[in-house]
Amino acid sequence: MARIGIFDSGSGGLSVLREIRKILPDERFIYYSDNAHCPYGEKPASYIVERGRAVTDLLLSKGAQAVVVACNTATAAAIATLRAEYSVPFVGMEPAVKPAATGTRSGVVGVLATAGTLKAPKYLNTKGQYADAVRIVERVGQGFVELVESMELDGAHAEAVVRSSLLPLLSEGADTIVLGCTHYPFLLPLMRRIAPAGVNFIDPAPAVARHLADVLREHGIALSDPAPGVELLASGDDTTLKKLFTLI
Ligand code: DGL
Repeated sequence: MARIGIFDSGSGGLSVLREIRKILPDERFIYYSDNAHCPYGEKPASYIVERGRAVTDLLLSKGAQAVVVACNTATAAAIATLRAEYSVPFVGMEPAVKPAATGTRSGVVGVLATAGTLKAPKYLNTKGQYADAVRIVERVGQGFVELVESMELDGAHAEAVVRSSLLPLLSEGADTIVLGCTHYPFLLPLMRRIAPAGVNFIDPAPAVARHLADVLREHGIALSDPAPGVELLASGDDTTLKKLFTLI
């Protein structure tokens, strides 16, 4: 049986769970939204490491055999420490700069992510590898996490918030936008309406789901739980988590 723990600072990681369940439909998932401590984006790395330990302990106490860090910010800040301290495998997120750099026609790639992700050495290294080939422009999706956590996925206010971070990337010539935070795919219908046709949005979640399947195989973690399904847990109010889950 495979029991997989998955966590994020909030409900954003459901965008990753959605892709994982497409290819691993018969597993048991324990999803933890750490929304009492959300957002992670502006918090110090040491704080996120502490949260990562606390959430991992909880997921392991519920029988998780592998943990998906369905949060770019927590991956950048904490996954190396968690891998060193625990024996279960961890799968994390990373902004999909590589496919974006390969696919852009304008030669300009836009990255939307949290402040924590954009300043992390992990991201800066990846970005450095493509700096000669393409121009990379970045913006924090200011207010995006709050929109998703309050289930405000559409409407005039949500559109104004999304425009203020997306338009600068488009006006710098980006034709490919990397969604570098797991909350952002829930705003994709809105982003597609704002951006001209032909702009490509890249969500790393499908690649992460494939990677998880490989990791489970490599570690000999048997697939198919006798009780497949999803258990939803939250450190704060779970209203958004439950609502958003109905959309995936
Ligand atoms: N969903 C998260 C990410 O992928 C973080 C959002 C936040 O808590 O700031 O980066």
